[in-house]
Amino acid sequence: MIAIAIDGPAGAGKSSVARKVAAKLGYIYVDTGALYRTIGYAVLHGGKDPKDAEAVVNLLPSLKVELAFAEGEQQVLLNGENVSDRIRTPEVSMAASEVSAMPPVREFLFSLQQNMAKTHDVIMDGRDIGTKVLPWAQVKIFLTASPEERARRRYEELVAKGQDVRYEDVLEDMKQRDYNDSHRAVAPLKPAEDAVIVDTTGNTFEQSVELLTNLIKERL
Ligand code: C5P
Repeated sequence: MIAIAIDGPAGAGKSSVARKVAAKLGYIYVDTGALYRTIGYAVLHGGKDPKDAEAVVNLLPSLKVELAFAEGEQQVLLNGENVSDRIRTPEVSMAASEVSAMPPVREFLFSLQQNMAKTHDVIMDGRDIGTKVLPWAQVKIFLTASPEERARRRYEELVAKGQDVRYEDVLEDMKQRDYNDSHRAVAPLKPAEDAVIVDTTGNTFEQSVELLTNLIKERL
């Protein structure tokens, strides 16, 4: 099995670039952020506070999270229901960032992620894929870009989906999430020792796709 780990901060272009590269190479693209988002969504939907670790942990046994693939597109099911679209809101982003700092939440999602890579050739993106989930990945990439560029990309994505957001708020959220993700005690966001660091500031989408495809081909 081939496993490519792509980690990096929010908005670095991981998901769009990784999805395209996976399609080119014929691998399955697994977006692990969607799993944490699903827990964040379930917590908000259940009327609980995502900062309340006890409430979050108590909710976990009632949740069944599954991944499905339709024409190569990942879908995430929460108790049998497709929540893929509902997890893409700023509120769910922030809730995901909160719950992902809780060790029981990370444990809850751990084997689902590992099993995907045991049964398929994957490009998996997240925060701790190269360091924790797939330490054996043949290629590890840490994809980053400046916070302003990442916020601009995320802002344009949300506006394109018809969401009413302000750039300043997206940038603020991005910085808050960066801080949460890199300062937490469990699985903090950091490059694996053997990761290649790729900064995509100033790159077009196509340039980043090309760069990563070549890098992966060279290293396999
Ligand atoms: O990648 P995305 O922005 O969708 O991830 C949402 C949140 O889930 C991140 O801010 C991060 O806190 C968390 N996450 C994580 N580990 C992963 C993927 C995402 O902690 N492997």
